[in-house]
Amino acid sequence: MIDFHAHILPGADHGSYSVEDSLSQLKKAENIGVKTIVATSHYYIQDNTVEEFLERRNEAYEKLRKAYKGDIRIIKGAEVTLAIDIPDMEDLGKLCIDGTNCILIEMPTTVGGPWIFDALDKIHNRGYQPIIAHVDRYTIALCEQLMTKDVLIQINASAIASVFTRKRMMKYLEQGAIHLLGSDVHDKEATQYDQFYKAVRKLGGYTTYLMNNAEEILNIK
Ligand SMILES: [Fe+2]
Repeated sequence: MIDFHAHILPGADHGSYSVEDSLSQLKKAENIGVKTIVATSHYYIQDNTVEEFLERRNEAYEKLRKAYKGDIRIIKGAEVTLAIDIPDMEDLGKLCIDGTNCILIEMPTTVGGPWIFDALDKIHNRGYQPIIAHVDRYTIALCEQLMTKDVLIQINASAIASVFTRKRMMKYLEQGAIHLLGSDVHDKEATQYDQFYKAVRKLGGYTTYLMNNAEEILNIK
């Protein structure tokens, strides 16, 4: 299985504070059969230049690579919080998931508005494929509006595991509106992998569909 959204690099963001935290996350992932993790560390334009971000992420990645003896493949990526200046960033391409033209984007927590859709168009027109992170977190209206754009859609496993959102997510899946699954694991206990395991059982045949999409994007067939 492929986890398309995870915060597992030690010190790269608030997902893991140490190599030990990361190793415990990876152990949990191994236990449920995850073979590949896209490590999507948070990128906030107001906090870091892309160069600073990449340096911190690479350092974290190397530290973990040295300490981790298991078989999970870790692919470097970023979770980019959308801001008005993001689409015009010269080095935006460096925030794509390694080896792809795809960029994982989360919606801003505060000042939303129509500019969001223009921003996604701009990113797409520059030749990058936006992937909307955890669309299940947004209002139904925003979620369904995002699904009409030239974007790929990722959901968190917790949205399938939960009885409150499962039905709606399954409907989107039937409509072909959801493409990727992630744990969005964020802490040492990594309980998000329990949700991932539960989601995979609830998804039935859709698991294969979601994993095939991930394989194709990451070119690891
Ligand atoms: Fe995330």
